[in-house]
Amino acid sequence: MATESLADALARTRALLLDPETLVRAVASGRRKGLPVPRVGSREVRRVELRYVDLKAGRHLQLTSFDETQAHTANFATGEEAGGAVDALLGQPFGNWHVDTTTRTHQLRVTKRPEAVVHTTERAEPVAAERGHNREKPRLLAESDPVLAALGIADAHGRIKPTRQAKYRQVEEFLRLLDSSITDALDKGHLRRPTEDEPLRIVDLGCGNAYLTFAAQRYLTHVRGLPVRVTGVDVKQQSADHNAGVAATLGIEADFVVGAIDAAVLPEPPDVVLALHACDTATDDALARAVEWDASLVLAAPCCHHDIASQLRTAATPAPYALLTRHGILRERFADTLTDALRATILRLVGYRVDVVEFVGSEHTPRNTLLRATRTGSRGSEDASRREYDDLVATWAVTPRLAELVGIRGD
Ligand SMILES: C[S@@+](CC[C@H](N)C(=O)[O-])C[C@H]1O[C@@H](n2cnc3c(N)ncnc32)[C@H](O)[C@@H]1O
Repeated sequence: MATESLADALARTRALLLDPETLVRAVASGRRKGLPVPRVGSREVRRVELRYVDLKAGRHLQLTSFDETQAHTANFATGEEAGGAVDALLGQPFGNWHVDTTTRTHQLRVTKRPEAVVHTTERAEPVAAERGHNREKPRLLAESDPVLAALGIADAHGRIKPTRQAKYRQVEEFLRLLDSSITDALDKGHLRRPTEDEPLRIVDLGCGNAYLTFAAQRYLTHVRGLPVRVTGVDVKQQSADHNAGVAATLGIEADFVVGAIDAAVLPEPPDVVLALHACDTATDDALARAVEWDASLVLAAPCCHHDIASQLRTAATPAPYALLTRHGILRERFADTLTDALRATILRLVGYRVDVVEFVGSEHTPRNTLLRATRTGSRGSEDASRREYDDLVATWAVTPRLAELVGIRGD
């Protein structure tokens, strides 16, 4: 891809950021090789999001900066104030700028020299910018987005149905994680950049009624301007029939495969694997398929955890941990934690970087843990991790299903 002068590319980016009519959202992230971590004021930041919001005092540029632990928001009046804030950000050594406007997406990556590689995609149809200001996070899919009505989350007037608020929240939080995970993986070169001919292939394993499949498709193509092709897999024929109907209503191409996660045949191996609330060891099946396919990015929110819980019931509890498993409810919770800790470790052992995060507040669903795994190929501290893993499974006398599936045997 052609490089150009960094100063010229940043000047074009500045003009897009300072247009309060057309900017939808922009994200600055990463840092340039060999330079310090970017700062906002005195704080080091991982990324900064920009959008315009309509306040009582008029339209303002809103900057949300994310450090290691929290988000900080500041608003700047359009004109000189916003110009000053944008210039300060453009002066920081961010490695990437991603700018969504109503008509195009503009991505700028800074090379080592430093020069800029810019990729601009025109949208098939313009999108509207969400300018609402509330204390909540900005919405990624507007309530009036047609995908929400097609999924039955919004009514025909584009308002979220009172009974579907929790689902909308879950979809939004999931998209937020998907968005930042994809940005991070693209920035670090762990995910290939999709093109119209080679779209990002995303599979949703145990997709059910495909809320997240369709929301991801809509958000990534329509708001982020990334070409994607989604496939849903579920054992239920009824889900595939329903989902094919939704795809037809939305006029999009998507594939729905009827079959078990551990056996489903896909036209091509996917880049991204999603598995949200697939039951019990179906999550292990999904993680094992991701490993088999060498998927670049995996987002899995486990559901019920019966397998390790039942192994804990039958094995003798090692000293001095009897109190952890004496009471049924504590044993179940401990089994959840042990299962997901083992899953994360196994994925690390086979070359993934893994975080375990909360993807939606526990008031919305108790099943709110999400494993996020990015394939880096690095097995840096394999020996130490393997020893810790072996100790843990030997101490508790458990055999994780995922270990069997990916061929990791206990000592
Ligand atoms: C709780 S629902 C979650 C649906 C969807 N992922 C969501 O978050 O809205 C679980 C779905 O996984 C499907 N499922 C469970 N085990 C499966 C397996 N082994 N293979 C394929 N589908 C499975 C079920 O049929 C069901 O539709």
